[in-house]
Amino acid sequence: MFEQTLSIIKPDGVAKNLTGNIIQLFENNGFEIKAIKKLILTKKNAESFYYVHKERPFFKSLVDFMTEGAIIPMVLSRENAILKNREIMGATNPKDAAEGTIRKMYAESIERNIVHGSDSPESAKFEISFFFNYFEII
Ligand code: CMP
Repeated sequence: MFEQTLSIIKPDGVAKNLTGNIIQLFENNGFEIKAIKKLILTKKNAESFYYVHKERPFFKSLVDFMTEGAIIPMVLSRENAILKNREIMGATNPKDAAEGTIRKMYAESIERNIVHGSDSPESAKFEISFFFNYFEII
């Protein structure tokens, strides 16, 4: 099924100048970039985006990390975009990530893991509308 997913290059990925490499990888894997922007989240923004994790012990640290610098959210589209993006990113913990995945190649830890990707159609819908208006998605 042709679908859209939200990808974020997190503050560690942007600070390490990995933006070009990561976008290239998505394009090489058949994704079209439907929307893209660069911004800095406020603490409130980050808390809202990650509200599903608000009871987790790592929540505050995650919010601090996601607000430490610029991020690059993107809407990506292709066949089975949600699953395929998760494949390319690799497991949340880089120690468990497969060879050749973004997190295996670049991530430092389970928290500082370079990229985010929607995990279901419901979260993709919420996450895309969190960052983009319909007229920004080409
Ligand atoms: P992400 O895919 O953006 O979804 C939630 C984020 O929380 C995750 O990537 C990591 O950055 C972070 N995270 C998940 N599990 C942990 C953990 N056990 N400790 C610290 N951070 C975590």
